[in-house]
Amino acid sequence: MDMPKLTIGNVTARLPIIQGGMAVRISRFPLAVSVAEAGGIGVIAGSGMEVDELAEEVRAARAATDGIVGVNVMVAVRKFRELVQAALREGIDLVIAGAGFSRDVFQWCKEADVPMVPIVGSARVAKLSERFGAAAVIVEGVEAGGHLGTDQPLMDILPGIIESVSIPVIGAGGICSGGDIARVLDAGAAGVQMGSRFAATVESSASDEFKQMYVEANEDDVVLIKSPVGLPGRALRSPLTERLLVGDYPEIDRCVSCLKECGKDYCIIDKLVRAQTGDVESGLVFAGTSVTRVHDIPTVADLMDRLVNEWRCAREGVTT
Ligand SMILES: Cc1cc2nc3c(=O)[nH]c(=O)nc-3n(C[C@H](O)[C@H](O)[C@H](O)COP(=O)(O)O)c2cc1C
Repeated sequence: MDMPKLTIGNVTARLPIIQGGMAVRISRFPLAVSVAEAGGIGVIAGSGMEVDELAEEVRAARAATDGIVGVNVMVAVRKFRELVQAALREGIDLVIAGAGFSRDVFQWCKEADVPMVPIVGSARVAKLSERFGAAAVIVEGVEAGGHLGTDQPLMDILPGIIESVSIPVIGAGGICSGGDIARVLDAGAAGVQMGSRFAATVESSASDEFKQMYVEANEDDVVLIKSPVGLPGRALRSPLTERLLVGDYPEIDRCVSCLKECGKDYCIIDKLVRAQTGDVESGLVFAGTSVTRVHDIPTVADLMDRLVNEWRCAREGVTT
C-alpha cells in the first residue's frame, strides 16, 4: 500500500509530507534537498536570512535536486517581499507564508506561476486565502513548534477548515510518526507538515546542542513564551525561557529592524541564531509538543522510510 501523493497547484510530491520551514537557519538547503529527494516537499526557511543568502540557498537546492523545494517566509519580516521575490527568481517550486497575512504575495506567485500556501488557524482566513488564489492551506494547531497563530488543537480546527474550502488542506502541529500522519489524513487532510521531527535529523542545520536538547526533552521542558513578533512561541525550557517567563528580558545589543512590527522586549532573531549555533542557554530552542517523542537523530532518508512504514502499519491496523 502506497501513501497518497500530494498535489499543490502545479506540483505533485510522491509523499504527502512537507518538512516545515524552520528559522533561523534550522531548515537550510541540505535538509530541504534531502526531504525532496526522499519524495516529500523540503522547505528552506528564509526568515532571518539576508536576501542574497536565501537566493544562494535556493540556487544550491535547485542544483542538488529535481524534487520539490519550497521557501517559507514570515509575513512579519520586513524584507518579506524581497525574500519571496528572490526565491521566485531562483526557481523555487512553492511559497509558504505564516505569521501574518499578505494579499500581495498571491499576485507575485501568480505572476511566477508558483503555488502559494498560507499557514492559517481559522476557517475565515482559509476561505479568504482561497479567494485570493491560495493553492492549498496549512492548518497549524497549538501543538506546533515556533510562533503560534491559534490556541486550538489541530484536530479541533482541521475538520471545519476542510469543510470550508475546496483546495487541499494540510495539517501541522504535533505530528511526529506515521501513526500521526494516518490520523490526520483520515480526518480529510491532503497532507501533513512536520517541523520538530525534522529539526532533529542529521541534515538539519541546528547545532548538535540544539538536537541533543530535543532528544532529552520531556513534557515539563516544553514552554510557551511571548515573542516580540506579537505571538506566543513554543520552545524548550532554558535559562533564557526562565527569564522570559518572568518578564526579565535580555537587552537588545543591536537592532536591524528585521520585523515590520516588533515589541522590542528582546531580540527574537538574536536568540534563535544563538540556539542554532550552539548556545542553547542564552538562545531560544523552538520546539513543538511532539518533541517529547523525539528520541534519536536519524538521517532524513531513514526517517522518511520509518514514517512510511509506521503509516502502513497504522493503515493495516497493526500497532506502531
Ligand atoms: C525550530 C522551529 C522553527 C520554526 N520556524 C518557522 C518559521 O520560520 N516559519 C514558519 O512558518 N513556521 C516555523 N516553524 C513551524 C514549522 O514550520 C511547522 O509548522 C511546525 O513545526 C509543525 O509543528 P511540529 O513542530 O509539531 O511538527 C518552526 C518550528 C520549529 C520547531
